[in-house]
Amino acid sequence: MTGGGSSIPEVQELLATLVASKPGGRIAEMGTAFGAGARAIAEALPADATFVTVEPDPARYAEASAALARTRAEVVNARWEDVLPARGPFDLIFFDGGTRGETFELAISLLAPGGILVKDDLTPGGPVAGDPVREAFFQDQRLVAVEVLTTASTAAIVGVRRP
Ligand SMILES: C[S@@+](CC[C@H](N)C(=O)[O-])C[C@H]1O[C@@H](n2cnc3c(N)ncnc32)[C@H](O)[C@@H]1O
Repeated sequence: MTGGGSSIPEVQELLATLVASKPGGRIAEMGTAFGAGARAIAEALPADATFVTVEPDPARYAEASAALARTRAEVVNARWEDVLPARGPFDLIFFDGGTRGETFELAISLLAPGGILVKDDLTPGGPVAGDPVREAFFQDQRLVAVEVLTTASTAAIVGVRRP
């Protein structure tokens, strides 16, 4: 279940900018890890917005909880599939853990109209066909999605749920 490291600064800056433009928003992160991305989100959180981040690994959860204790992030020790459906819809989701093929449908369903879904850690320029991440973002009619370079050798997909 556990895997992956912290998000890169470029992605954190993208997240912070998107979050800052969501006053009153409901923000979620799937996969807290050590809290690096969550810190960037929490520090950019508008005053009237809420933010929940979910991590199933007990050691990572404990470390992230301590690191985020002075922020407005709510850190939950669980699999996101078990807790976030009851708490949506969300205006922005950082989809960074538990990203198995069958979970994309559920993640998209948790977006409010106009809500944004961000998935990083892609290698740029790959084909859509046969790639479960790109197929989910680019072939789902509920989303308008773009792939953007986050560095010269890494990419993210940003999907917006149609109103
Ligand atoms: C790439 S790391 C997350 C990095 C973090 N978002 C950041 O910005 O630094 C992925 C994390 O997702 C967690 N994870 C795995 N399955 C998950 C699930 N079903 N729900 C929530 N988190 C999950 C892993 O334990 C791991 O810590």
